[in-house]
Amino acid sequence: MADCLLEIRGLSVGYGDGIVLSDLSLSLERGRSLAVLGRNGVGKSTLMLAIAGHLVPRSGTVLLDGQSLDQAPPFQRCRRGIGWVPQGRDVFAPLTVEENLLIAARKGPWTMRRVHELFPRLLERRRNYAGQLSGGEQQMLAIARALMTNPAVLLLDEPLEGLAPVVAQDVARCITEVVEKEGMSAILVEQHAGFALELAHEALIIERGRVVRSGTSAQIAADRDALELHVGIRKATSRKAS
Ligand SMILES: Nc1ncnc2c1ncn2[C@@H]1O[C@H](COP(=O)(O)OP(=O)(O)O)[C@@H](O)[C@H]1O
Ligand SMILES: [Mg+2]
Repeated sequence: MADCLLEIRGLSVGYGDGIVLSDLSLSLERGRSLAVLGRNGVGKSTLMLAIAGHLVPRSGTVLLDGQSLDQAPPFQRCRRGIGWVPQGRDVFAPLTVEENLLIAARKGPWTMRRVHELFPRLLERRRNYAGQLSGGEQQMLAIARALMTNPAVLLLDEPLEGLAPVVAQDVARCITEVVEKEGMSAILVEQHAGFALELAHEALIIERGRVVRSGTSAQIAADRDALELHVGIRKATSRKAS
């Protein structure tokens, strides 16, 4: 594939004896984005955890820029370009906003100044402890922290989850800016399927541990039957952060 950035081949992964994902393969080209859809519990976060190196797969391989990440622990995957924004944010609550960003910082185009331009609220709140922030602010911090690592690919796991609609729209706007305007390669797991399908170039749907649909986002958005059957939504809305 032309300029393949991230490739997953035959990934089988789970917890203990239980397998969650079986023989899953996908690829992402540089500068492209992929929406991962599926009902609760199908293994979307498990996929992200396996890419970020927090779960050791039963079989399969994860390649970044053609190089295997299989032997690399999470901190090395971060250094090599995997920017993970975990579900539930997981900011470092006892550290200030500024400290959360500084400990992640690596050389590259994303600097403190640029993440403050993207999220002015984090500049205002820089001396506050992360644990004191609202949910929306914590999500912004989690995204900003991942950007500070200057990733090759951003993994966003339900970044709008639990946010009030107006806050979700704000966060969605920032994600759109990073992915569309800055051309950041990204995998987006999102229950807000309308937003995910509008943002991402490609999309896939997972069910029972396997990819049951994949295609361009437009193709998946038009497949109302699949969205209803496998994602549980009657139709893909076109509003941002719907
Ligand atoms: N730490 C864990 N230990 C055992 N089972 C888990 C663990 N985390 C998730 N699971 C199970 O793995 C399956 C997939 O979970 P997950 O990847 O979180 O789904 P999703 O993100 O799609 O909602 C679910 O059945 C869930 O109960
Ligand atoms: Mg999840």
